Amino acid sequence: MTKSKNYLHKKFWSKKLILITGINGFIGGNLAKKLINLDAKIVGISNKRIKNKFLEYEKIAKKIDFHYVDISNYSKLKKIVAQYNFDICYHLAAQVDVNVAKNNPFLTYESNIRGTYNLLESLRGSKKLKSIIVASSDKAYGEYNLKDLPYKENYDLRPLYPYDVSKASADFIAKSYASDLFNLPIIITRFANIFGPGQLNFTALIPDCILANLNYRKFIPRGDGKNKRDFLYVDDVCDLYACLAFNLYKNKNLKGEIFNAGTKTGYSVDEIVNKICTTMGNDKLYYKIKKQFANKKTIGEIQHQFMTFEKLYRYFKWKPEFKIEKGLEHTISWYKDFLKTIDYKSFLK
Ligand SMILES: NC(=O)c1ccc[n+]([C@@H]2O[C@H](COP(=O)([O-])OP(=O)(O)OC[C@H]3O[C@@H](n4cnc5c(N)ncnc54)[C@H](O)[C@@H]3O)[C@@H](O)[C@H]2O)c1
Repeated sequence: MTKSKNYLHKKFWSKKLILITGINGFIGGNLAKKLINLDAKIVGISNKRIKNKFLEYEKIAKKIDFHYVDISNYSKLKKIVAQYNFDICYHLAAQVDVNVAKNNPFLTYESNIRGTYNLLESLRGSKKLKSIIVASSDKAYGEYNLKDLPYKENYDLRPLYPYDVSKASADFIAKSYASDLFNLPIIITRFANIFGPGQLNFTALIPDCILANLNYRKFIPRGDGKNKRDFLYVDDVCDLYACLAFNLYKNKNLKGEIFNAGTKTGYSVDEIVNKICTTMGNDKLYYKIKKQFANKKTIGEIQHQFMTFEKLYRYFKWKPEFKIEKGLEHTISWYKDFLKTIDYKSFLK
């Protein structure tokens, strides 16, 4: 990592007014925690009325100016944005559950597509705003042959399934608002799968498998375990989000840039399950799941995905610091502690 982590200086972040959409989410919560520690002021938007348990657990809930609003509601969103004079905005709100997207594409498109143009339209004319980071996703690329991976930023977006289409659409919309027509200072991020403390969507692979090892849930594979995925640890992602917002703030010529981030390594779902079960000393569970993989077929999902951080390194000397094994160790011990304090059953209501 570059010795100049100038993007983490309090001098820059102190008193900066930052909008985070999706504050109740996994990345939103972790990012808020990081930026509050740097003395920034956070305004958060969520379509969940109550602040989530991660924000409470991390004791940052009270430090966030929270607004309950659905970003698909333009007039409400515009009113909130107009109350502030933001310096930086992170657009993270999205319906991210791939299974929900398969069953309810409408809801997914409303949040992820309409929500994105509502937000960017509301931000037009914001005088102080110098950085908008829009979270797209590796899913926006759609299906490529394994031999063509890792994805490059200049690859065509060719999504097919609803979540993937919603992210690619938001990605294009963001690009259009960054164009010479509107000149919004936007960077678009296409990150690999993210894992770590605070991921409370327990249907995602890593929390699902860790919680199965802790006997809270039954792990039911969604496919045959052969799909390859790339995993970034959440601390790396928050570090990168600080890096991108800082650099765009200082250099408006970065507007419209797209950055992939991954670790260069694709792990099959089978390998991830194996790593978690081995770390947690539960080979028996691994062999049970392996048998279930044999009877499953993956449908409605991209086969293989992984990416590099090559462009990020070229521009900012940025690279991820966490190896998957280290990230998994931290994550496993975080879930153990968290679930001692917060009753798992409270998530099932
Ligand atoms: N987690 C990953 O692996 C990953 C990888 C690449 C990209 N991303 C992107 O990063 C962003 C954050 O992901 P996350 O993992 O934190 O997801 P998350 O589900 O934990 O958080 C998303 C948040 O957005 C809120 N939200 C959803 N629809 C909304 C709406 N219509 N109005 C207001 N709020 C709404 C949800 O309540 C939730 O708090 C998403 O845009 C996602 O597509 C995530």
